Formats: sequence, structure tokens, C-alpha cells
Amino acid sequence: MRTTLRDVRRLLDSSEPIPMVTAYDYTSALLADRAGIPMILVGDSMAQTMLGFEDTLPVTVDDMVRHTAAVVRGTSRAFVVADMPFMSYQASLSDALRNAGRLLKEGGAQAVKLEGGASMVETVRALVGSGVAVMAHLGLTPQSVHQLGGYGVQARTAAAARTLLDDARALEEAGAFALVLELVPAELAAEVTEELSIPTIGIGAGEACDGQVQVWHDLLGLSVDFTPRHAKRYAEVGTVVREALERWAEDVRERRFPTDQQTSHLTERIDLGTKTLEPDRE
Ligand code: KIV
Repeated sequence: MRTTLRDVRRLLDSSEPIPMVTAYDYTSALLADRAGIPMILVGDSMAQTMLGFEDTLPVTVDDMVRHTAAVVRGTSRAFVVADMPFMSYQASLSDALRNAGRLLKEGGAQAVKLEGGASMVETVRALVGSGVAVMAHLGLTPQSVHQLGGYGVQARTAAAARTLLDDARALEEAGAFALVLELVPAELAAEVTEELSIPTIGIGAGEACDGQVQVWHDLLGLSVDFTPRHAKRYAEVGTVVREALERWAEDVRERRFPTDQQTSHLTERIDLGTKTLEPDRE
């Protein structure tokens, strides 16, 4: 049975922290689902982790639909949230509705996530009013990286902290079912968590949040050149993969692969017209 928002609510009510991880493809989603992760985010961080872009801005709705559908095919239990890409919801309510609709109808997501505070309240209201479950996202909002001037911790001043708290309340009031808090001071995240009745899902926002989200590549040691400070590597999958590839390539070069175990043989003699092939083995 797939996780529903009622199950998410139950986790919140029982004070059980909610783990959420990003996944962008069928196999990763299958593994996360089998690990019992209740929420999967098809993040637009896919731009960097899967497509090699500098930031999240180039990802398109078509990209998100395709990868969301793959993630949904890999899951039978997780609640799947799909990120709305940059400029797929900011320009108009009709853009937001149409593109969220595609993520649900074509991608099969259970919910969408979008970034922003007060300016997104009407968008959240319109989506929720049309039956779309919306996860909000405050603090470091990577789609605004050029405006923010980088990927630093947000809301460190009293004014910025008050704005973030007001935005959080307004997004909850507009109907968001959860709020991602990215790179905000732990004390502020704790206050937002206390104030809101919807779950907060933190990333670099301390331990008081109701849940934690991490990027697949950071968590598993697949980020080749850089791991953010807020991430902890639970495995060195990148090293395991590279070493396996090196060993395989060496076996090919040394003619140790394939062996007979990976090989099929003729079972009877065949006549090619110009030549007859004899089975190697009886
Ligand atoms: O795209 C993403 O991976 C995200 C998480 C960092 C929350 O939005």
C-alpha cells in the first residue's frame, strides 16, 4: 500500500521523525522504497546530480515528468513528491496548475514541491484548491541562487527570521501539507516547527524538524567532488562503483572476462554456407 498524507500525519502525531530522500530514477527509487523510506522527492537537484548542470535552473517540466514516472514505477509504498522546475509556476497560476497537473497525471506523483514564501501563497492556494497536495520550501531556495548570491545559510538576521516565520504561517494557511526548511539556523527551524501544525522537513536545519531530507548522492557518497556540510555520507558507493569498473576493465584487458560462466555455446553443428561451425563443447 502506498503511503498517503494520512500516514504522514500519523507519523507527525506520533512524533516519529520522517525520513525523505531524493531519487531520480527507477533503480534508486526501488532501493529507497525497499529500505522503507516513506517519502521520496524527485528533486530538481537532478539538474546537478544527474544532468551535470551548475544549478537547478535548466531542468524542464518534461525532464521532471520523465524522471518522476521512473521513480513512481520503482515504488509501491513511498509517497512521491515531484519538484516544480524554475519558471514552471512563477509566471502565472495557469502555468502552475497545468504543470503541476502534468507531474501528477503523466508523472504519477502524489504531490508537488515549490519554492518561495509570500509571493507563492496564492499559487499554493490555487493548487490545493484544485486538489493538488503541495509541499512548500523556504530558507535556501536554490532556484533563486543568483538572487541570493550563493548557497549559504539563510535567515540569520531578526528581520529575515521574522519574514521566514510569517511565510511559513502563510504557506500553512494556504494549504501546504509540509514545509521543507533548507539551510536555516536550527533555533529558527525549531521555532517554525513548534509554530506550525504541518510537518517541517529539514535539510541543514537542525534536529528539531519533524523530518529530514537528504540528496541521494550526498547520502551515499556519490557526490564526486563535494559533500555539503549538512550531509553525512552513509556509504562510499562512488568508490565501490569506480573500483568495480577498474577491476572489470582490467579483467577485459587481461582476457579474464568473460569466462565460460558468462558464455553460451552452440548445441549442434551449424552450416553457414561457406563454413560449418562446430559446437565448442559436447
Ligand atoms: O531538489 C532537491 O533535492 C531539493 C532538496 C534539497 C530539498 O529541493
